[in-house]
Amino acid sequence: MAVPQGYDLVVQQLIPGYASLARLAVALLAASPKAGRAGAQVLVAGCGTGAELVEARAQRPDWRVTAIDPSAEMLAEAQQRLGEAGIVWRQSRVEELQADACFAGALSVLVLQSLPDDGTKLAFLSALARSLEPGGQLVLVDLMAPERSPLQAQVDAAWLGFQKASGLPAADGELSALTHGLHPIGTARLTALVNAAGFSDPARVFQALGYEGFLLQRAA
Ligand SMILES: C[S@@+](CC[C@H](N)C(=O)[O-])C[C@H]1O[C@@H](n2cnc3c(N)ncnc32)[C@H](O)[C@@H]1O
Repeated sequence: MAVPQGYDLVVQQLIPGYASLARLAVALLAASPKAGRAGAQVLVAGCGTGAELVEARAQRPDWRVTAIDPSAEMLAEAQQRLGEAGIVWRQSRVEELQADACFAGALSVLVLQSLPDDGTKLAFLSALARSLEPGGQLVLVDLMAPERSPLQAQVDAAWLGFQKASGLPAADGELSALTHGLHPIGTARLTALVNAAGFSDPARVFQALGYEGFLLQRAA
């Protein structure tokens, strides 16, 4: 996958508090019993252009970080931003990672939303659970599906208006829906999936528009 044009600019315009997402995600994990230990091994799943890596380095320079993303373009951008040293880089999907019980904690920011709910989301979450030590924690941040309402057409139109008012460029002459190509799910479905993958119920930590952050713990 190519780096979306102006990816960082787009997410900054569409996600209120985007700059704080990675900061809070790292702070949450740094306060966890296992990943809080000095020199803990931490996985950044779907690191993209490196927002969480920048924060991890600032807050926890002692962490031994593995950054994984299947996109060579995204990884290259992150490596340019952070320098190649001091991070283990993997060009791979999390599902292909052979790292059973290696990590004290993991971060997944804006990744699950892009995976279809046809077994792919479950495979991703199961791989994350497997990669964690028992009791290890995952900070998951994702776009969540809103409750469907009889006024849905108005809600959809409002999201397009929001994009337009945010100055986002039109794609093919049309503004693309905020959720175009994404597969957001509701909290009940997320709970069922993370439980099936071996995590506790997701504890919601924050919400900003449709984006929510959760803390999950792998069963001991
Ligand atoms: C929307 S970007 C988010 C990047 C970054 N976490 C951020 O918040 O800016 C989603 C990233 O997840 C990566 N990704 C998609 N499927 C993945 C998978 N199965 N395992 C790991 N990363 C994946 C994509 O290549 C992309 O870089």
